[in-house]
Amino acid sequence: MNNFTRRDFVKAAALSAAAVSTFNILGAQTVNGIGTQKIKLGLIGCGGRGKGAAGQFLQACKILGIEVEIVAVADVFQDRVQAALSQFNIDALRGHSGYQAYQKVTQSDAEFVIMATPPNFRPRHLEACVEAGKHCFIEKPVAVDPVGARKVIELGEIAKTKGLTIVAGTQRRYDAKYQTAKAKIDAGAIGEIVGGVVSWNGQVPWISLRKPGQSDAHYLTRNWLNFTELSGDHIVEQHVHQLDVANWFIGRTPVSFNGMGGRARRETGNQFDFFSVDMDYGDGVHIHSQCRQIAGCYNRIGESFRGTEGETIGTKVMGNDVSVPTIELEGGASMIQEHVELIKSARGSGTPLNCAQAVAEATLTAIGGRISAYTGQLVRWVDLTVNEKSPFYSMQLTPNSIDFEHGEVFMPAEAPAIPGKAIQFRVR
Ligand SMILES: NC(=O)c1ccc[n+]([C@@H]2O[C@H](COP(=O)([O-])OP(=O)(O)OC[C@H]3O[C@@H](n4cnc5c(N)ncnc54)[C@H](O)[C@@H]3O)[C@@H](O)[C@H]2O)c1
Repeated sequence: MNNFTRRDFVKAAALSAAAVSTFNILGAQTVNGIGTQKIKLGLIGCGGRGKGAAGQFLQACKILGIEVEIVAVADVFQDRVQAALSQFNIDALRGHSGYQAYQKVTQSDAEFVIMATPPNFRPRHLEACVEAGKHCFIEKPVAVDPVGARKVIELGEIAKTKGLTIVAGTQRRYDAKYQTAKAKIDAGAIGEIVGGVVSWNGQVPWISLRKPGQSDAHYLTRNWLNFTELSGDHIVEQHVHQLDVANWFIGRTPVSFNGMGGRARRETGNQFDFFSVDMDYGDGVHIHSQCRQIAGCYNRIGESFRGTEGETIGTKVMGNDVSVPTIELEGGASMIQEHVELIKSARGSGTPLNCAQAVAEATLTAIGGRISAYTGQLVRWVDLTVNEKSPFYSMQLTPNSIDFEHGEVFMPAEAPAIPGKAIQFRVR
Protein backbone atom coordinates (compact mmCIF):
# COMPACT_ATOMS: atom_id res chain seq x y z
CA MET A 1 0.00 0.00 0.00
CA ASN A 2 2.82 2.34 0.93
CA ASN A 3 4.40 1.81 -2.49
CA PHE A 4 1.23 2.93 -4.25
CA THR A 5 2.47 6.20 -5.78
CA ARG A 6 0.50 9.13 -7.15
CA ARG A 7 1.42 7.95 -10.67
CA ASP A 8 -0.04 4.49 -9.89
CA PHE A 9 -3.15 6.20 -8.62
CA VAL A 10 -3.57 8.29 -11.80
CA LYS A 11 -2.99 5.15 -13.94
CA ALA A 12 -5.53 3.16 -11.92
CA ALA A 13 -8.06 5.98 -12.15
CA ALA A 14 -7.58 6.19 -15.93
CA LEU A 15 -8.06 2.42 -16.28
CA SER A 16 -11.17 2.49 -14.20
CA ALA A 17 -12.56 5.47 -16.20
CA ALA A 18 -11.89 3.50 -19.40
CA ALA A 19 -13.71 0.53 -17.88
CA VAL A 20 -16.69 2.75 -17.05
CA SER A 21 -16.89 4.22 -20.55
CA THR A 22 -16.53 0.76 -22.13
CA PHE A 23 -19.39 -0.31 -19.87
CA ASN A 24 -21.44 2.64 -21.10
CA ILE A 25 -20.99 1.60 -24.71
CA LEU A 26 -21.30 -2.15 -24.30
CA GLY A 27 -23.09 -2.38 -20.97
CA ALA A 28 -26.57 -2.75 -22.37
CA GLN A 29 -25.50 -5.70 -24.45
CA THR A 30 -22.95 -7.44 -22.31
CA VAL A 31 -23.56 -6.62 -18.67
CA ASN A 32 -27.28 -6.05 -18.32
CA GLY A 33 -28.45 -8.39 -21.05
CA ILE A 34 -31.21 -5.96 -22.03
CA GLY A 35 -30.22 -5.50 -25.65
CA THR A 36 -29.29 -2.28 -27.40
CA GLN A 37 -32.56 -1.35 -29.09
CA LYS A 38 -33.61 2.15 -28.05
CA ILE A 39 -36.48 2.19 -25.57
CA LYS A 40 -39.65 4.07 -26.53
CA LEU A 41 -41.75 5.34 -23.65
CA GLY A 42 -45.33 6.61 -23.42
CA LEU A 43 -46.93 8.53 -20.54
CA ILE A 44 -50.60 8.74 -19.55
CA GLY A 45 -51.23 11.41 -16.91
CA CYS A 46 -48.77 14.32 -16.97
CA GLY A 47 -49.19 15.61 -13.41
CA GLY A 48 -46.66 15.59 -10.58
CA ARG A 49 -46.21 11.83 -10.41
CA GLY A 50 -46.41 11.22 -14.15
CA LYS A 51 -43.60 13.64 -14.88
CA GLY A 52 -41.71 12.39 -11.82
CA ALA A 53 -41.99 8.75 -12.87
CA ALA A 54 -41.00 9.54 -16.47
CA GLY A 55 -37.90 11.33 -15.17
CA GLN A 56 -37.06 8.35 -12.98
CA PHE A 57 -37.56 6.01 -15.94
CA LEU A 58 -35.02 8.10 -17.90
CA GLN A 59 -32.59 7.86 -14.97
CA ALA A 60 -33.03 4.09 -14.91
CA CYS A 61 -32.18 3.97 -18.62
CA LYS A 62 -29.03 5.96 -17.92
CA ILE A 63 -27.99 3.51 -15.21
CA LEU A 64 -28.64 0.61 -17.57
CA GLY A 65 -26.75 2.36 -20.37
CA ILE A 66 -29.62 2.30 -22.87
CA GLU A 67 -31.01 5.05 -25.08
CA VAL A 68 -34.59 6.18 -24.49
CA GLU A 69 -37.10 8.44 -26.18
CA ILE A 70 -40.55 9.61 -25.01
CA VAL A 71 -42.78 9.03 -28.03
CA ALA A 72 -46.26 9.95 -26.76
CA VAL A 73 -47.78 11.74 -23.77
CA ALA A 74 -51.44 12.18 -22.85
CA ASP A 75 -53.45 14.14 -20.33
CA VAL A 76 -56.99 15.47 -20.15
CA PHE A 77 -55.69 19.03 -19.98
CA GLN A 78 -53.51 20.74 -22.58
CA ASP A 79 -51.61 22.74 -19.93
CA ARG A 80 -50.49 19.45 -18.32
CA VAL A 81 -49.51 18.02 -21.72
CA GLN A 82 -47.54 21.18 -22.45
CA ALA A 83 -45.72 20.95 -19.12
CA ALA A 84 -44.54 17.41 -19.95
CA LEU A 85 -43.54 18.38 -23.51
CA SER A 86 -41.48 21.27 -22.16
CA GLN A 87 -39.88 19.33 -19.30
CA PHE A 88 -38.70 16.53 -21.57
CA ASN A 89 -38.18 18.61 -24.70
CA ILE A 90 -40.65 16.57 -26.77
CA ASP A 91 -42.12 17.48 -30.17
CA ALA A 92 -45.61 19.03 -29.81
CA LEU A 93 -47.06 16.42 -32.19
CA ARG A 94 -46.41 13.77 -29.55
CA GLY A 95 -48.71 15.41 -26.99
CA HIS A 96 -52.41 14.57 -26.82
CA SER A 97 -55.22 15.97 -24.68
CA GLY A 98 -58.74 14.86 -23.74
CA TYR A 99 -60.34 11.90 -21.97
CA GLN A 100 -59.56 9.61 -24.93
CA ALA A 101 -55.99 10.84 -25.40
CA TYR A 102 -54.66 7.68 -23.69
CA GLN A 103 -55.59 5.82 -26.89
CA LYS A 104 -52.96 7.81 -28.79
CA VAL A 105 -50.36 6.42 -26.41
CA THR A 106 -51.58 2.84 -26.72
CA GLN A 107 -51.65 3.26 -30.53
CA SER A 108 -48.10 4.67 -30.57
CA ASP A 109 -44.95 2.55 -30.94
CA ALA A 110 -44.14 2.92 -27.23
CA GLU A 111 -42.73 -0.29 -25.76
CA PHE A 112 -43.36 0.89 -22.17
CA VAL A 113 -46.21 3.01 -20.79
CA ILE A 114 -46.35 4.84 -17.46
CA MET A 115 -49.87 5.33 -16.07
CA ALA A 116 -50.20 8.11 -13.49
CA THR A 117 -53.75 9.43 -13.74
CA PRO A 118 -56.21 9.41 -10.82
CA PRO A 119 -56.81 5.74 -9.96
CA ASN A 120 -60.42 5.49 -11.19
CA PHE A 121 -59.04 5.53 -14.76
CA ARG A 122 -56.38 2.87 -14.15
CA PRO A 123 -58.28 -0.36 -14.96
CA ARG A 124 -59.48 0.96 -18.33
CA HIS A 125 -56.12 2.44 -19.30
CA LEU A 126 -54.30 -0.71 -18.20
CA GLU A 127 -56.69 -2.80 -20.26
CA ALA A 128 -55.90 -0.73 -23.35
CA CYS A 129 -52.14 -1.01 -22.71
CA VAL A 130 -52.22 -4.78 -22.17
CA GLU A 131 -54.37 -5.21 -25.28
CA ALA A 132 -51.81 -3.17 -27.24
CA GLY A 133 -48.91 -5.28 -25.91
CA LYS A 134 -47.20 -2.61 -23.79
CA HIS A 135 -45.02 -3.19 -20.74
CA CYS A 136 -46.61 -1.19 -17.95
CA PHE A 137 -45.72 0.95 -14.97
CA ILE A 138 -48.92 1.56 -12.99
CA GLU A 139 -48.99 4.06 -10.18
CA LYS A 140 -50.74 3.01 -7.00
CA PRO A 141 -53.61 2.71 -6.20
CA VAL A 142 -55.00 0.88 -9.20
CA ALA A 143 -58.75 1.16 -8.67
CA VAL A 144 -61.41 2.79 -6.49
CA ASP A 145 -63.89 -0.09 -6.20
CA PRO A 146 -63.94 -3.91 -6.04
CA VAL A 147 -64.93 -4.28 -9.71
CA GLY A 148 -61.92 -2.22 -10.79
CA ALA A 149 -59.48 -4.02 -8.49
CA ARG A 150 -60.63 -7.45 -9.74
CA LYS A 151 -60.25 -6.20 -13.32
CA VAL A 152 -56.60 -5.33 -12.63
CA ILE A 153 -55.97 -8.83 -11.25
CA GLU A 154 -57.54 -10.30 -14.40
CA LEU A 155 -55.44 -8.02 -16.63
CA GLY A 156 -52.32 -9.12 -14.76
CA GLU A 157 -53.08 -12.72 -15.72
CA ILE A 158 -53.63 -11.74 -19.37
CA ALA A 159 -50.35 -9.79 -19.32
CA LYS A 160 -48.54 -12.94 -18.14
CA THR A 161 -49.82 -14.93 -21.10
CA LYS A 162 -48.55 -12.18 -23.42
CA GLY A 163 -45.13 -11.99 -21.76
CA LEU A 164 -45.74 -8.42 -20.58
CA THR A 165 -44.21 -6.93 -17.45
CA ILE A 166 -46.29 -4.91 -14.99
CA VAL A 167 -44.58 -2.98 -12.22
CA ALA A 168 -46.49 -0.88 -9.68
CA GLY A 169 -45.52 2.28 -7.82
CA THR A 170 -45.60 0.59 -4.41
CA GLN A 171 -42.06 1.79 -3.94
CA ARG A 172 -41.39 0.26 -0.50
CA ARG A 173 -41.09 -3.09 -2.29
CA TYR A 174 -38.10 -1.65 -4.22
CA ASP A 175 -36.39 -0.22 -1.14
CA ALA A 176 -33.33 -2.08 0.21
CA LYS A 177 -34.26 -1.31 3.84
CA TYR A 178 -37.79 -2.69 3.48
CA GLN A 179 -36.51 -5.71 1.54
CA THR A 180 -33.98 -6.41 4.31
CA ALA A 181 -36.66 -6.11 7.01
CA LYS A 182 -38.89 -8.51 5.07
CA ALA A 183 -35.98 -10.98 4.67
CA LYS A 184 -35.29 -10.83 8.43
CA ILE A 185 -38.97 -11.45 9.26
CA ASP A 186 -39.02 -14.40 6.87
CA ALA A 187 -35.85 -15.74 8.54
CA GLY A 188 -37.62 -15.74 11.93
CA ALA A 189 -36.28 -12.52 13.50
CA ILE A 190 -39.58 -11.71 15.24
CA GLY A 191 -41.25 -15.14 15.19
CA GLU A 192 -44.83 -15.10 13.89
CA ILE A 193 -46.48 -11.71 13.35
CA VAL A 194 -49.45 -11.41 15.72
CA GLY A 195 -50.39 -7.73 15.37
CA GLY A 196 -49.39 -4.27 14.36
CA VAL A 197 -50.28 -0.70 13.52
CA VAL A 198 -49.99 0.93 10.11
CA SER A 199 -50.68 4.62 9.67
CA TRP A 200 -50.60 7.63 7.40
CA ASN A 201 -51.56 10.65 9.44
CA GLY A 202 -50.94 14.01 7.79
CA GLN A 203 -52.94 16.76 6.18
CA VAL A 204 -55.00 17.27 3.01
CA PRO A 205 -52.30 17.47 0.31
CA TRP A 206 -54.14 19.99 -1.88
CA ILE A 207 -57.56 21.16 -3.08
CA SER A 208 -58.58 22.73 -6.39
CA LEU A 209 -61.59 25.02 -5.94
CA ARG A 210 -64.24 25.13 -8.64
CA LYS A 211 -63.72 27.89 -11.19
CA PRO A 212 -66.60 29.80 -12.82
CA GLY A 213 -67.79 28.08 -15.99
CA GLN A 214 -65.89 24.85 -15.24
CA SER A 215 -67.80 21.72 -16.32
CA ASP A 216 -68.59 19.02 -13.75
CA ALA A 217 -66.14 16.68 -15.50
CA HIS A 218 -63.31 19.20 -15.47
CA TYR A 219 -63.93 20.26 -11.88
CA LEU A 220 -63.93 16.61 -10.74
CA THR A 221 -60.79 15.85 -12.71
CA ARG A 222 -58.90 18.92 -11.44
CA ASN A 223 -60.03 18.30 -7.85
CA TRP A 224 -59.83 14.50 -8.07
CA LEU A 225 -57.87 14.10 -4.85
CA ASN A 226 -60.95 15.13 -2.86
CA PHE A 227 -63.62 12.93 -4.48
CA THR A 228 -63.98 9.27 -3.57
CA GLU A 229 -65.23 8.40 -7.07
CA LEU A 230 -61.86 9.42 -8.50
CA SER A 231 -59.35 8.86 -5.69
CA GLY A 232 -60.95 6.08 -3.63
CA ASP A 233 -60.61 8.42 -0.58
CA HIS A 234 -57.27 8.95 1.14
CA ILE A 235 -57.31 5.52 2.79
CA VAL A 236 -56.98 4.19 -0.77
CA GLU A 237 -55.03 6.97 -2.47
CA GLN A 238 -52.37 7.48 0.20
CA HIS A 239 -52.57 4.88 2.98
CA VAL A 240 -52.43 2.05 0.41
CA HIS A 241 -48.63 2.15 0.83
CA GLN A 242 -48.79 0.95 4.46
CA LEU A 243 -51.57 -1.53 3.73
CA ASP A 244 -49.38 -2.99 1.00
CA VAL A 245 -46.53 -3.39 3.51
CA ALA A 246 -48.91 -5.16 5.93
CA ASN A 247 -50.02 -7.65 3.25
CA TRP A 248 -46.41 -8.14 2.08
CA PHE A 249 -44.86 -8.66 5.54
CA ILE A 250 -47.69 -10.89 6.81
CA GLY A 251 -47.85 -12.77 3.53
CA ARG A 252 -51.61 -12.68 3.04
CA THR A 253 -54.60 -10.35 2.76
CA PRO A 254 -57.09 -9.58 5.56
CA VAL A 255 -60.13 -11.77 6.16
CA SER A 256 -62.37 -8.90 7.26
CA PHE A 257 -62.55 -5.19 8.02
CA ASN A 258 -64.35 -3.41 10.83
CA GLY A 259 -63.87 0.29 10.22
CA MET A 260 -65.04 3.69 11.28
CA GLY A 261 -64.33 7.25 10.29
CA GLY A 262 -65.84 10.66 9.82
CA ARG A 263 -65.60 14.15 8.45
CA ALA A 264 -65.89 17.63 9.86
CA ARG A 265 -63.14 19.73 8.36
CA ARG A 266 -62.57 19.11 4.64
CA GLU A 267 -63.45 22.07 2.43
CA THR A 268 -64.34 20.28 -0.81
CA GLY A 269 -65.37 16.87 -2.11
CA ASN A 270 -66.97 14.00 -0.22
CA GLN A 271 -64.17 12.15 1.55
CA PHE A 272 -63.68 11.43 5.23
CA ASP A 273 -61.14 13.25 7.39
CA PHE A 274 -60.05 10.06 9.16
CA PHE A 275 -60.38 6.27 9.22
CA SER A 276 -59.65 3.68 11.87
CA VAL A 277 -59.94 0.07 10.75
CA ASP A 278 -59.46 -3.21 12.59
CA MET A 279 -58.16 -5.57 9.93
CA ASP A 280 -58.51 -9.23 10.88
CA TYR A 281 -55.89 -11.31 9.07
CA GLY A 282 -57.18 -14.59 10.54
CA ASP A 283 -55.42 -16.89 13.05
CA GLY A 284 -55.79 -14.17 15.69
CA VAL A 285 -53.69 -11.64 13.80
CA HIS A 286 -55.10 -8.10 13.90
CA ILE A 287 -53.62 -4.97 12.32
CA HIS A 288 -54.87 -1.53 13.23
CA SER A 289 -54.97 0.73 10.18
CA GLN A 290 -55.34 4.43 10.88
CA CYS A 291 -55.18 7.41 8.55
CA ARG A 292 -56.06 11.04 8.98
CA GLN A 293 -55.87 14.17 6.84
CA ILE A 294 -56.30 17.03 9.31
CA ALA A 295 -53.73 19.81 9.65
CA GLY A 296 -52.37 20.66 13.09
CA CYS A 297 -52.53 17.13 14.51
CA TYR A 298 -49.88 14.56 15.51
CA ASN A 299 -48.53 13.04 12.30
CA ARG A 300 -47.20 9.54 11.88
CA ILE A 301 -46.46 7.66 8.69
CA GLY A 302 -45.20 4.12 9.05
CA GLU A 303 -45.66 0.50 9.99
CA SER A 304 -44.93 -1.48 13.17
CA PHE A 305 -45.48 -5.17 13.70
CA ARG A 306 -45.36 -7.28 16.84
CA GLY A 307 -44.24 -10.86 16.61
CA THR A 308 -44.10 -13.76 19.06
CA GLU A 309 -40.34 -13.19 19.44
CA GLY A 310 -39.74 -9.54 18.62
CA GLU A 311 -41.05 -6.48 16.86
CA THR A 312 -40.45 -4.06 14.02
CA ILE A 313 -40.67 -0.28 13.99
CA GLY A 314 -40.45 0.98 10.43
CA THR A 315 -37.62 -1.02 8.89
CA LYS A 316 -35.87 -1.60 12.24
CA VAL A 317 -36.19 -5.24 13.26
CA MET A 318 -35.70 -6.19 16.93
CA GLY A 319 -35.66 -9.82 18.00
CA ASN A 320 -33.67 -12.94 17.17
CA ASP A 321 -30.31 -12.60 15.44
CA VAL A 322 -30.70 -13.81 11.88
CA SER A 323 -28.34 -13.59 8.97
CA VAL A 324 -29.68 -12.24 5.68
CA PRO A 325 -27.79 -11.22 2.54
CA THR A 326 -26.89 -7.56 2.13
CA ILE A 327 -29.16 -6.03 -0.48
CA GLU A 328 -27.69 -3.53 -2.92
CA LEU A 329 -29.94 -2.15 -5.63
CA GLU A 330 -28.64 -0.87 -8.96
CA GLY A 331 -31.12 1.98 -9.02
CA GLY A 332 -30.24 3.18 -5.53
CA ALA A 333 -33.45 5.07 -4.76
CA SER A 334 -36.56 2.88 -4.71
CA MET A 335 -38.41 5.05 -7.25
CA ILE A 336 -35.61 4.53 -9.77
CA GLN A 337 -35.16 0.87 -8.88
CA GLU A 338 -38.82 0.27 -9.89
CA HIS A 339 -37.95 1.26 -13.45
CA VAL A 340 -34.62 -0.59 -13.51
CA GLU A 341 -36.50 -3.80 -12.65
CA LEU A 342 -39.33 -3.01 -15.08
CA ILE A 343 -36.91 -2.58 -17.98
CA LYS A 344 -34.78 -5.61 -17.09
CA SER A 345 -37.84 -7.84 -16.72
CA ALA A 346 -39.37 -6.64 -19.99
CA ARG A 347 -36.13 -7.07 -21.89
CA GLY A 348 -35.71 -10.64 -20.64
CA SER A 349 -32.93 -10.00 -18.12
CA GLY A 350 -33.55 -10.02 -14.35
CA THR A 351 -36.59 -11.51 -12.65
CA PRO A 352 -39.83 -11.54 -14.72
CA LEU A 353 -42.18 -9.22 -12.87
CA ASN A 354 -45.92 -8.96 -12.70
CA CYS A 355 -47.10 -6.90 -9.73
CA ALA A 356 -50.73 -6.52 -10.80
CA GLN A 357 -52.16 -8.90 -8.21
CA ALA A 358 -50.14 -7.55 -5.26
CA VAL A 359 -51.00 -3.91 -5.94
CA ALA A 360 -54.64 -4.74 -6.71
CA GLU A 361 -54.87 -6.64 -3.40
CA ALA A 362 -53.33 -3.70 -1.51
CA THR A 363 -55.85 -1.43 -3.24
CA LEU A 364 -58.69 -3.82 -2.36
CA THR A 365 -57.50 -3.93 1.25
CA ALA A 366 -57.88 -0.13 1.40
CA ILE A 367 -61.25 -0.31 -0.38
CA GLY A 368 -62.48 -2.91 2.14
CA GLY A 369 -61.57 -0.60 5.02
CA ARG A 370 -63.26 2.34 3.32
CA ILE A 371 -66.50 0.46 2.59
CA SER A 372 -66.67 -0.73 6.18
CA ALA A 373 -66.14 2.80 7.53
CA TYR A 374 -68.62 4.39 5.09
CA THR A 375 -71.38 1.85 5.65
CA GLY A 376 -70.71 0.93 9.27
CA GLN A 377 -70.83 -2.76 8.28
CA LEU A 378 -68.38 -5.62 8.71
CA VAL A 379 -66.84 -6.27 5.28
CA ARG A 380 -65.30 -9.65 4.47
CA TRP A 381 -62.56 -10.22 1.90
CA VAL A 382 -64.82 -12.75 0.18
CA ASP A 383 -67.49 -10.03 -0.22
CA LEU A 384 -65.00 -8.10 -2.34
CA THR A 385 -63.61 -11.03 -4.30
CA VAL A 386 -65.96 -14.02 -4.75
CA ASN A 387 -69.30 -13.59 -2.99
CA GLU A 388 -71.48 -12.33 -5.84
CA LYS A 389 -74.48 -12.00 -3.49
CA SER A 390 -72.76 -9.29 -1.48
CA PRO A 391 -73.72 -5.69 -2.47
CA PHE A 392 -70.03 -4.83 -2.13
CA TYR A 393 -68.96 -7.37 -4.77
CA SER A 394 -70.50 -5.45 -7.68
CA MET A 395 -69.80 -1.97 -6.31
CA GLN A 396 -68.57 0.30 -9.09
CA LEU A 397 -68.39 3.98 -8.31
CA THR A 398 -69.65 6.46 -10.87
CA PRO A 399 -68.88 8.60 -12.73
CA ASN A 400 -66.26 6.13 -13.94
CA SER A 401 -63.73 6.24 -16.75
CA ILE A 402 -66.29 5.32 -19.42
CA ASP A 403 -68.65 8.10 -18.24
CA PHE A 404 -65.82 10.62 -18.58
CA GLU A 405 -64.96 9.34 -22.06
CA HIS A 406 -68.60 9.51 -23.17
CA GLY A 407 -69.20 12.91 -21.59
CA GLU A 408 -71.89 11.47 -19.31
CA VAL A 409 -70.60 12.84 -16.05
CA PHE A 410 -72.92 13.79 -13.23
CA MET A 411 -71.77 15.70 -10.19
CA PRO A 412 -71.70 13.56 -7.03
CA ALA A 413 -72.95 15.23 -3.87
CA GLU A 414 -70.22 17.08 -2.01
CA ALA A 415 -71.27 15.31 1.18
CA PRO A 416 -69.75 12.34 2.96
CA ALA A 417 -71.22 8.89 3.51
CA ILE A 418 -73.31 8.36 6.66
CA PRO A 419 -72.49 5.09 8.44
CA GLY A 420 -75.54 3.04 9.35
CA LYS A 421 -77.54 4.16 6.29
CA ALA A 422 -77.78 2.24 3.01
CA ILE A 423 -74.94 2.39 0.46
CA GLN A 424 -74.58 6.09 -0.22
CA PHE A 425 -72.65 6.05 -3.43
CA ARG A 426 -74.36 5.67 -6.75
CA VAL A 427 -73.23 2.34 -8.12
CA ARG A 428 -73.81 0.42 -11.31
N1 LIG B 1 -45.96 6.24 -5.59
C1 LIG B 1 -46.08 7.39 -5.01
O1 LIG B 1 -45.38 7.70 -4.08
C2 LIG B 1 -47.07 8.40 -5.52
C3 LIG B 1 -46.93 9.74 -5.18
C4 LIG B 1 -47.89 10.64 -5.66
C5 LIG B 1 -48.95 10.21 -6.42
N2 LIG B 1 -49.06 8.89 -6.73
C6 LIG B 1 -50.18 8.39 -7.55
O2 LIG B 1 -49.99 8.82 -8.88
C7 LIG B 1 -51.25 9.10 -9.49
C8 LIG B 1 -51.26 10.55 -9.98
O3 LIG B 1 -51.04 11.41 -8.90
P1 LIG B 1 -50.41 12.89 -9.08
O4 LIG B 1 -49.92 13.30 -7.75
O5 LIG B 1 -49.49 12.90 -10.23
O6 LIG B 1 -51.71 13.72 -9.43
P2 LIG B 1 -51.81 15.00 -10.39
O7 LIG B 1 -53.14 15.58 -10.20
O8 LIG B 1 -50.59 15.84 -10.19
O9 LIG B 1 -51.70 14.33 -11.85
C9 LIG B 1 -52.69 13.53 -12.40
C10 LIG B 1 -52.76 13.90 -13.87
O10 LIG B 1 -53.62 12.99 -14.55
C11 LIG B 1 -54.41 13.74 -15.46
N3 LIG B 1 -55.60 12.99 -15.81
C12 LIG B 1 -56.74 12.85 -15.11
N4 LIG B 1 -57.59 12.02 -15.73
C13 LIG B 1 -56.97 11.63 -16.86
C14 LIG B 1 -57.34 10.79 -17.93
N5 LIG B 1 -58.53 10.16 -17.97
N6 LIG B 1 -56.48 10.62 -18.96
C15 LIG B 1 -55.27 11.26 -18.96
N7 LIG B 1 -54.87 12.08 -17.97
C16 LIG B 1 -55.71 12.25 -16.92
C17 LIG B 1 -54.68 15.05 -14.72
O11 LIG B 1 -55.10 16.08 -15.59
C18 LIG B 1 -53.34 15.31 -14.08
O12 LIG B 1 -52.49 16.06 -14.90
C19 LIG B 1 -52.30 8.80 -8.42
O13 LIG B 1 -52.75 7.49 -8.54
C20 LIG B 1 -51.53 8.95 -7.12
O14 LIG B 1 -52.07 8.20 -6.06
C21 LIG B 1 -48.14 7.98 -6.31
